[in-house]
Amino acid sequence: MLKVMGFAASLREGSWNGKLWEVAAQALDAMEGVAVERRSFAEFEMPLYNPDLQAQGFPQGADDFKEAIEAADALIVVTPEYNASIPGYLKNALDWVSRYRPVPLRGKPLLLMSASPSMMGGNRGLWQTRIPLEATGAVVSPRMFGLAQAHLAFAEDGGLANAELHEQLVELLEEFVAFGQALTSAQARGQ
Ligand SMILES: Cc1cc2nc3c(=O)[nH]c(=O)nc-3n(C[C@H](O)[C@H](O)[C@H](O)COP(=O)(O)O)c2cc1C
Repeated sequence: MLKVMGFAASLREGSWNGKLWEVAAQALDAMEGVAVERRSFAEFEMPLYNPDLQAQGFPQGADDFKEAIEAADALIVVTPEYNASIPGYLKNALDWVSRYRPVPLRGKPLLLMSASPSMMGGNRGLWQTRIPLEATGAVVSPRMFGLAQAHLAFAEDGGLANAELHEQLVELLEEFVAFGQALTSAQARGQ
């Protein structure tokens, strides 16, 4: 069973990224051999990273984020693009968890997705978000998913309004699950 933990890196109620994560989670629910864990980024509240604070002990939100990462075999991060880059609070959370030893993200298969009302679908932010994730050892899927015009993209039934795009998303998720399974079984064999 591949344990896939995912969250939308948005604190906003009605988040487009939250809606996209839910579409993905429902598609994953329908796949055999996958256990989906839906987390909320709001659970992982933490102060701005400061080594002096770390010296006093990690904040609860950082411990919780670390434990959620460690408990998962694979991760899905659905993040907005802020100013063509990674939102500051997500970078802050990655900075905190990068200070644990062993680094919890090391070796974790990770899929990046984004939703934006723009025509670009958060594509620039996806590439920027790869950088700290790869630096902390996550095995980031080469394929990513950017949903453009998110305010128009969702159907009443909770899927994507564009059926072809929905199928592409499901196919991407299937490929990611296969990638996660292959990587975790190779790691279990010590390869
Ligand atoms: C500080 C800030 C910067 C933003 N920068 C971008 C951007 O560079 N590109 C983009 O497509 N959208 C940008 N947006 C718009 C977000 O895509 C939009 O607010 C979106 O709804 C955020 O995702 P959410 O609905 O999941 O919270 C920005 C929004 C904020 C608040």
